[in-house]
Amino acid sequence: MVNYHQLKAFIKHWLTSVDKHSIHSPFFFDFYNKVILDKTDPGQFSETEQLRSNLLVNSTEIEIIDFGAGSKKLNGTKRKLLDIASTSLTPQKFARLYYNIITYQKAKNIVELGTSLGITSLYLAKSKACHVTTFEGSRSLADVAITNFEYFEKQNIELIEGNINSTLQEFVQNPAKINFVLIDANHQYAPTLRYFNMMMRRLNEKSIVVLDDIHWSEEMERAWNELRTSQLVYGSIDLFRCGILFFDPDINRQHFVLNL
Ligand SMILES: C[S@@+](CC[C@H](N)C(=O)[O-])C[C@H]1O[C@@H](n2cnc3c(N)ncnc32)[C@H](O)[C@@H]1O
Repeated sequence: MVNYHQLKAFIKHWLTSVDKHSIHSPFFFDFYNKVILDKTDPGQFSETEQLRSNLLVNSTEIEIIDFGAGSKKLNGTKRKLLDIASTSLTPQKFARLYYNIITYQKAKNIVELGTSLGITSLYLAKSKACHVTTFEGSRSLADVAITNFEYFEKQNIELIEGNINSTLQEFVQNPAKINFVLIDANHQYAPTLRYFNMMMRRLNEKSIVVLDDIHWSEEMERAWNELRTSQLVYGSIDLFRCGILFFDPDINRQHFVLNL
């Protein structure tokens, strides 16, 4: 159910969003045409989408440990896979957007904070040239995700199980740069900023970070506004469901509110 904050944010987004005729920056115009205007063949994800459909009718219950902000829709520690699949996962349209971004970037190293059932991880790991590291705290969810990765014989996904508050610290010691990061785990202000700042060590100016659920709550809205206006960020796009952050100084600090 949509709460007052989300309704207010949606109306503001609707009033402030622009179309491609208002994008004068060559970088954002190119990004809009090549990435946001989706020309990928959805058929190439049909097996992953079949898996999503199977999960959407799977009433198996699993025990969840909630490491994040919890769910506005689900209560309790026992949850059915079908409920998780219908409330917690990135919708197909946005999973395709993330695939388009990493294709545009020719990304090799990808990080997903918050695996859940692993559906978006499968999109991110579509190309064998990519290596995806995905983080999940809840063991039962990690087990389902690993089963899904094995079913698709994915060799290029590594799942790091455990609370990101502990597991990310060691991960960011590795000096290799990360091209694309999806922050989709603990939807609260302080952890979002902390994870972003920790990941900064592993980014370069061509990296792209996507923050999910930027208008989900007042604290996520605050986190998004702080990050997009941070000195470290040179450009941003608000697509309502998610925000995209760019780090290339050539972009010259521009912000766009667009629709997908
Ligand atoms: C919104 S779901 C991720 C959805 C997934 N990215 C997708 O699109 O399919 C968020 C996940 O992050 C996990 N999570 C939240 N906070 C965490 C933390 N502090 N450490 C590890 N996992 C966490 C939750 O268990 C949950 O499975």
